[in-house]
Formats: sequence, structure tokens, C-alpha cells
Amino acid sequence: MDAEHASATRRPVAVSLGATVTASGATALPSTGAPPPARAGATAGVHGAAGATALPATGAPREGGLLDRFGRVATDLRVSVIDKCNLRCTYCMPADGMPWLPQTQLMSADEIRRIVRVAVHSLGAEELRITGGEPLVRKDLEHIIAGIRADNPDLPISMTTNAVGLDKRAHALKDAGLTRLNVSLDTLHPETFAELTRRPHLDKVLAGLQAARAAGLGPIKINAVLLAGVNDTEIVPLVEWAVSNGFEMRFIEDMPLDGDRSWSAQNVIPARDIRAAIEQAFALSADPRGRGAAPAERWEVRRPGETEVAGHVGIISSVTEPFCAACTRTRVTADGRIRSCLFSHEETDLLTALRDGADDEGLAQVWRDAMWAKPRAHGSDRVGLARADFVQPERTMSAIGG
Ligand code: GTP
Ligand code: 5AD
Ligand code: SF4
Repeated sequence: MDAEHASATRRPVAVSLGATVTASGATALPSTGAPPPARAGATAGVHGAAGATALPATGAPREGGLLDRFGRVATDLRVSVIDKCNLRCTYCMPADGMPWLPQTQLMSADEIRRIVRVAVHSLGAEELRITGGEPLVRKDLEHIIAGIRADNPDLPISMTTNAVGLDKRAHALKDAGLTRLNVSLDTLHPETFAELTRRPHLDKVLAGLQAARAAGLGPIKINAVLLAGVNDTEIVPLVEWAVSNGFEMRFIEDMPLDGDRSWSAQNVIPARDIRAAIEQAFALSADPRGRGAAPAERWEVRRPGETEVAGHVGIISSVTEPFCAACTRTRVTADGRIRSCLFSHEETDLLTALRDGADDEGLAQVWRDAMWAKPRAHGSDRVGLARADFVQPERTMSAIGG
């Protein structure tokens, strides 16, 4: 155990995070896409077995992978390495930032490495996504990735980043073992970028993207959260730009995870409108590779009158077309808390168990127990994201990792 990180009371606990009612002005949008509960003794299955009532949140399996009460199995691990960010996107953070985690509460590189090893070797995690805050803010990011890579030679390791500062680190990250990247970029206009992110760094993002491509960190996906009246006129230009540069463009419905707590369903650009906007300029057809458990529904893009596929776009419709029934994600925050769902109101303190000296099997069981209780959809067994009684989790996007 790292002495610097030691503390007195050390038991893994489910931490209730309290809740704040938001979703002001929310209209009742569809709350489908959630799984039915699994029957007792159900085996793994992406969409869950049929049943009348949710199983109790106790009674997790004592071996095997991360099964939940609805029959889903979590194999996609998302680990946040830091809560800080160097941008202040309006849909994510308040202008003044957040109260950052103290250094001693952040997972060290060795702790992250151990947690990933347990997830892969004891719990069947098949891929790792590194998130933040902004992961590049961590100076030891290359060291973290190299350690994970040493333990897991075949693990796909991807990262979601805003790419500020990536131009100087792309090659080192590739050498450390990073596989691919998703880059957040909501607009191609410097003024809109500065307004939306509250920082004038569009040039840095574009330089980062160029360096990432040169370093072979592909395929690269571009994430744009669409906001009514801000960047929703850029749907076609963004697709054109991404297709021309060999990136996969993805449009994301704004979710109620912002620091300002000013999200409103009225400002969400629904997936069907995004598709219609793209179809003003391109032909879309469903990607034959299918979607699996991915948040993004993928489409092939063709230029008018052409048969050749020019590129792909993805649409992430958490609000209007939820995809929770097929969810395979498990998350660890930068302070080592397991979140079974992006919108969870409860967390489980894995880092304290680790610092208390738990062995790998002990950590794996803490994780199984946490994931067994995963809510049905959007942090709840009952309400959906866009319902008026939806409750926003206390942690905001930057503190969860997306
Ligand atoms: P790929 O594997 O590269 O397709 O990545 P991804 O789309 O799973 O992850 P990324 O970090 O790029 O996130 C894109 C958007 O999807 C962000 O807005 C995430 O918050 C959102 N997202 C990722 N996972 C989930 C999820 O489990 N539930 C919901 N509702 N949104 C998610
Ligand atoms: N709604 C939807 N997506 C968001 N992201 C950040 N905040 C939100 C939100 N409120 C996206 C970022 C990043 C990814 C991790 O999550 O654009 O690409
Ligand atoms: Fe999975 Fe929760 Fe996201 Fe739904 S909202 S897809 S259950 S993480």
C-alpha cells in the first residue's frame, strides 16, 4: 500500500450521493431501451431475460464476470484518470471549474494498473477506455498506459480526449500502447469554439488531431454534442470535414450531466433531426456491421449519386432513443469509485478496499457486488432520462468521465 494514500476507515461501501432534481421544462420523451429484469439465476445475455419484478440488489454471483440483475454483462471498462480539465464546455462544467479532487484521493498509476488488471484477468473486461476530466492533464499518462499495456498485451486501449496538447504527446502515447482515440470537437468556428468551451483553443485541437493521425492512433472518432442555437447549423459541415479527413463524425444528444445544472429537454437536438439534417446533403444507410453494445448508432455516408461509401457517422441518442438494454459498461472514477451506470446515484469505493490491502479476488467481488445492483436504465429501475421526475446524479460529466 502507498503510505501517502493510507487512511483510517477502510471498507468498501456503497456511497449514496444524494440527488438534485433538475430536468427543468423536461417534456415526456420516450423512456424505452431499458431491459426487463432477469429471472433469478439468469445467465448472461445482452438484453436480459424476461421477468416481472427487479431482483434484489444483493445476491451477486461469487465468481465469473460482471453480471447485473437484468442479465447484462459489463465487459467495457471506462476508467477516469483525472477529474481536471483544461476546457470549460458549457454542457459539462461551470465557468469557474469544479472543486478538484485532492492529489491523495486520485488513483496513482500503480493503482490504476492494478484495477485494470483485476478487471481484465478476474472479471473478463475486454476493452479499456481512458477518460477524464481531460486525461492529457495527467503528466504521467504515458506511464499509466505503458503499465497497463505491459500487463495486457492484447487489450484494446482507447482514450476520449479534447486533444489540447496532444500534438506534443501523440507519438509517445502510441509508443506507450494506446490503440485509438475519440476527440471531442463540437464546432469548426473559432468563435463558437471559444464560446462553447470558454477557451480559444480550436487551433490546438486541430494540431492534436493531425498529430494523432500521423502517429497512427486510428480510427479516430470526433464527438460533437449538439446544442440548439449554438452549433446545430454545423451538422453538414462537420460531416463534410470529417469525411474529407478520414474521421468518423459522431453527434451526441446533450445529457443532463452538466455542472451548471441548466440542462433542458427543450434544447436537445433529437437523433431523428440529426439524421434528417445529414440527409439534406448525404445519403445515409445503416452500417451493416451493426451496433452491438455501442452508444452510437452507426451509418454509412455516401455523397449524392455515388455508390462508394465516403465515410461513417454515429449518432448517440441517450435521450430520445436510449440504449441501456444492451449496456456493457462499467466505470471507475478518478478517485477509484465504481459507477455501475453513467447516471448512478450510488458508488462503490474500490480504491479504499485496494489501499486496505484487499487481494485481487476481494477486489473482484466488490466489483461484482457493485455491478449486480446496476440500475435498469439512466441510473434508475423506474424513471428514464427525459422524464420530468428524472434526478440528475450529483457528480457531473467531468467528474465521472463520460
Ligand atoms: P467508441 O467505443 O469509440 O464508440 O466510444 P463511446 O462512444 O462508447 O465513448 P465516448 O467516450 O466517445 O463517448 C461518446 C458519448 O457517448 C459521450 O457523450 C458519452 O457520455 C456517451 N456514452 C458513453 N457511454 C455511455 C453510456 O453507457 N450511456 C450513455 N447514456 N452515454 C454514454
Ligand atoms: N451530454 C453528452 N455528452 C457529453 N459530453 C460531455 N458532457 C456531455 C453531456 N452533457 C461528451 C464530451 C466527450 C464525451 C466523453 O462526453 O463531448 O466527448
Ligand atoms: Fe448503460 Fe446507464 Fe448508459 Fe444506460 S445510461 S447505457 S444503463 S451506463
